[in-house]
Amino acid sequence: MSGAGELLVARDAAEQARLAAELMARAIDEAARGRGVARLALSGGTTPMDTYRCLSDLALPWAQTEWFWVDERAVREDDERSNYRNVMRALRLVERGVPEARIHRMHADWDDRDAAARSYAVALRASFGVASAVAFDVMVLGIGEDGHTASLFPATPAPFVEDRLVAAVDAQPAKGLEARLTLTAPVLRQARLTLVLCQGAHKRAIVEAARAPGSLADVPARLLQLVGGRVIWVVDPAAAP
Ligand code: 6PG
Repeated sequence: MSGAGELLVARDAAEQARLAAELMARAIDEAARGRGVARLALSGGTTPMDTYRCLSDLALPWAQTEWFWVDERAVREDDERSNYRNVMRALRLVERGVPEARIHRMHADWDDRDAAARSYAVALRASFGVASAVAFDVMVLGIGEDGHTASLFPATPAPFVEDRLVAAVDAQPAKGLEARLTLTAPVLRQARLTLVLCQGAHKRAIVEAARAPGSLADVPARLLQLVGGRVIWVVDPAAAP
């Protein structure tokens, strides 16, 4: 158990984005130099977009990077709720010289979402190797006020899926949530560097709860306490516990 993880409180949202981009950039450089490739898994949502825009402006070994998504909604790739669309707009990966074969959209919009989850697991295995851990060099996560991270929502089986790399998550119409695909806890636990980006006073209580002991069923983001690698909560002052 790695504990609550490091806490980095930025002065404001702009500094938060710069710090997070810098941490990502350093990890990309190290991985590219050490292993020839840097593999990243990115969350959508609103908080990380400024970080992605900052990262896009940096000089990086872009051709040696490979990009996956942490989760995705069951929407078309041009839908404004699509994590793929929003991340691609912020990061401009193709313009930066990332080969398209190294950009892996999650096809959460397939009718057969279990097949889509299996297909994404095949892509992960093809990249990391069948015998190796699916250990991302950088994983960017956020947290919801209900305690979810990735698409591992409370009161659903998703946080407890251990036998797959990628899981299909049913829609929750009562909460206004569409069906999704998500990386599972075993993948989150193996990341080398995890950045958890949180902003705003409405997140403060849940950031505190996620960093404290307690049940995973209530607060799935507590699984971050079990991550083997380095976990850094990069927060603005309002979200700081
Ligand atoms: C998503 C992510 C989700 C997100 C949190 C925080 O695609 O929305 O799955 O886990 O990181 O809900 O979202 P915000 O950054 O928008 O607060």
